[in-house]
Amino acid sequence: MKKYVIRGGNPLEGEVRVSGGKNAAVAIIPAALLVKGVCIIENVPIVNDVMLLTKIMSEMGAKVSFLDKTTLRVDSTEINTCAAVSELVRKMRASYYLIGALLGRFGKAQVGLPGGCDFGVRPIDYHIRGFESLGATVSIEHGIVNAVAENGIKGTSMSLDFPSVGATINIMMAAVLAQGTTVIENAGKEPHIVDIANFLNAMGAEIRGAGTDTIKIKGVSELHGGRYEIIPDQIEAGTYMVAAAAVGGKVKVSNVIPKHLESISAKLEEIGVTVKEDDDFITVSREPGQILNNVNVKTLPYPGFPTDMQPQIATLLCLANGTSVVTEGIYEHRFKYVDELRRMGAKMNVDGRVCVISGIDHFTGAAVSACDLRAGVALVIAGLCADGMTEISNVHLIERGYEDIIEKLKGLGASIGVIDDEPQTTETVSVSVG
Ligand code: UD1
Repeated sequence: MKKYVIRGGNPLEGEVRVSGGKNAAVAIIPAALLVKGVCIIENVPIVNDVMLLTKIMSEMGAKVSFLDKTTLRVDSTEINTCAAVSELVRKMRASYYLIGALLGRFGKAQVGLPGGCDFGVRPIDYHIRGFESLGATVSIEHGIVNAVAENGIKGTSMSLDFPSVGATINIMMAAVLAQGTTVIENAGKEPHIVDIANFLNAMGAEIRGAGTDTIKIKGVSELHGGRYEIIPDQIEAGTYMVAAAAVGGKVKVSNVIPKHLESISAKLEEIGVTVKEDDDFITVSREPGQILNNVNVKTLPYPGFPTDMQPQIATLLCLANGTSVVTEGIYEHRFKYVDELRRMGAKMNVDGRVCVISGIDHFTGAAVSACDLRAGVALVIAGLCADGMTEISNVHLIERGYEDIIEKLKGLGASIGVIDDEPQTTETVSVSVG
């Protein structure tokens, strides 16, 4: 099994370049199924979830190839199926976007229920209700979602019970080629929702209001090919910012959109770390011996503090002076990683969605296991500042979303390596390239 081995204590110094947004990429790539033509997608992060999607799309008949390390060419002109039911679909959450894309293109879709990180029940009922409002009949049988719009997709107005990221994007995709106009009220406002709308508009869609509570999608008869560059990854950037704060040193996090990072920058400043913003980079620095303040954090939909940064900031707060409270506002069970941090000396008590953290002087290295993507990277941060050696297993979960994490951290001076005590299969080799 592949593991990360970290010797803690090296301060982080230098520059790290952030990759393209993983959560944007895993929506934009399926959105290319809506386009009869060639989409050239730039700044694609090479992470396992993206590689999985390219395989799923290829199996469906799309012509998918990399033109260079980060530029993906997708031609869905001759897609010959509206079904995506292979095993691969169950390996990731974002495969639910195949439903909206296929429904939008063909008026029907048959897609395996998605998998992904396990932090509580993650239903797709908002997505389904959205599809039904657009005229589709949806059923789930034998683990497969069947959606059919016998009379075509018809624009309508709807309001989401919660500003779900996935439902907002999926409904946009299903509605883009609809007859008439669709209005989504209480829509999600996350940066990658805006990115998917911009991608679709670049291909001829007419979507207005993405990034606000109300999105209007005027149906068009078809989309054309084009070129689009994915935004930088908000969460990857935030992760390196928090790592710099926890370990100490001075890190320039480049290729970012500082606006997307405001809630994270503000929290780091409150904790007492120095954060300097520029046009497309942010520098985070912490002097040796600089005390971290205890603060409270509540995760919320954008522009609030992102749930996908919760394990990382909680790890940082373990090293703060005094007691901090972290409240999870999005998911029911997103503190499963706490047991692993406790093995490294953390003092954390969880009650439902609330975690009370008492500051400690330092983490101690231990053998720990990643339970999901962001929890896994939080263990990496803890390992980087721990006394002694940390060995992290289940790291394939971290590689779902962090491109070249080992090389990037080594570039900042971290002492981190990979051990692999099993022979790799051809498949794992091809997925981990780049
Ligand atoms: C996306 C992100 C994920 C992030 C999350 C919240 C991708 C691929 N994943 O996930 O990394 O943590 O946004 O920022 O972009 N819910 C329902 N019914 C639904 C849909 C959601 O009850 O139909 C609930 C969820 O269980 C969760 C909350 O609503 O408690 C938010 O989910 P949502 O915003 O939809 O997150 P995802 O799109 O799954």
